[in-house]
Amino acid sequence: MKTVQVSASKTYAVKIGAGLLPQCGEEIAALGGTKRVCIVSDNTVWPLYGEKVQASLEKAGFLVDSFVFTAGESSKNGSVYLALLSRLAQIPLTRTDTVVALGGGVVGDLAGFTAATYLRGVRFVQLPTTLLAAVDSSVGGKTAIDLPEGKNLAGAFYQPELVLCDCYALQTLPSEIFWAGCAEVIKYAVLFDPALFDYLLETGTDFDLEYVIAKCVQWKQDIVAADEFEKGQRKLLNLGHTFGHGIEACSNFEISHGEAVAAGMAIAARVSASMELCDSAVVERIEEILKRFSLPVSADLSAKALCKAALQDKKRAGDCIHLILPKAIGDCRMVEAQVADLEKLIAAGL
Ligand code: NAD
Ligand code: GLY
Repeated sequence: MKTVQVSASKTYAVKIGAGLLPQCGEEIAALGGTKRVCIVSDNTVWPLYGEKVQASLEKAGFLVDSFVFTAGESSKNGSVYLALLSRLAQIPLTRTDTVVALGGGVVGDLAGFTAATYLRGVRFVQLPTTLLAAVDSSVGGKTAIDLPEGKNLAGAFYQPELVLCDCYALQTLPSEIFWAGCAEVIKYAVLFDPALFDYLLETGTDFDLEYVIAKCVQWKQDIVAADEFEKGQRKLLNLGHTFGHGIEACSNFEISHGEAVAAGMAIAARVSASMELCDSAVVERIEEILKRFSLPVSADLSAKALCKAALQDKKRAGDCIHLILPKAIGDCRMVEAQVADLEKLIAAGL
């Protein structure tokens, strides 16, 4: 097992290893102070791991309730959020009790935002079951729900008390969902870590999960510790996301977050080359690694449509938008672009 300590407004451990779900009761009990927990999960993950997690929590002496919703991004919305708030109030979960998120990024974001706002904040533990959630969404405290007007538009920075990532749980992931998580892993390599990039290029999807997840979480911790509230360098973690969120939205969320981020990274690399920030070899290497992981390197969209969708993204600031563009593998830059120039830039990257 590997442990990464996150030091943000709250200090907490991210534990990564095989077989952690059946130990979650003991681990959460060791945090102290909680009598009751509510497990939040979706209807794909709950039948796979719900019983195991519930049994472990009960064995550790907790009173356990659960809330299970329909799997998928379309549930990360206001009505499921309100239903979960009501469920917590009916239980009732009190100020010292804990919300336990068991699932991927959708479960973590929804449960985290609910934990942040119910009673103005109750404790929250993440049990990520997708690769994406393990390396990205469960760590760092971003929580959110989507609005009809756009993705993640209502949210809060709210750190968990503990993250337990059971590598065994990733074994039941359908390949496409595992590959989608690989996009976020590749993101860290492109941003910070040429050695990880070379390792992934060699292994393809057959990489050492514990090693790679711990590496990514360590990179994320370093950024979150320096800039928890995304005033500066945390924006780097949005590599591929401004275009990616636009691609997701244009596809009506048929294209997964990870696939959209992959295509977004490739577009960002081509935009970077068109601005002469990087040379074509960098673009080729990024396309090569994405293809090695069966991830898309382009999106079947017009520059106009993608530009419109990208401008809905919350990363826009008035007449400017920050783009994260690779200069080299392991070295990305934040570039401020004028909204008026964005469509032309995107056209060069498609
Ligand atoms: P997800 O939570 O929808 O999971 C994908 C699918 O996999 C779902 O159908 C789920 O039921 C299923 N699943 C989950 N674990 C499984 C397992 N172990 N075995 C079998 N099936 C399993 O999606 P995701 O890709 O994990 O996360 C995407 C979401 O995360 C998006 O909403 C995105 O905005 C958000 N996100 C948040 C952050 C953040 O910092 N908060 C970062 C990146 C992404
Ligand atoms: N997923 C990007 C971040 O946490 O900042």
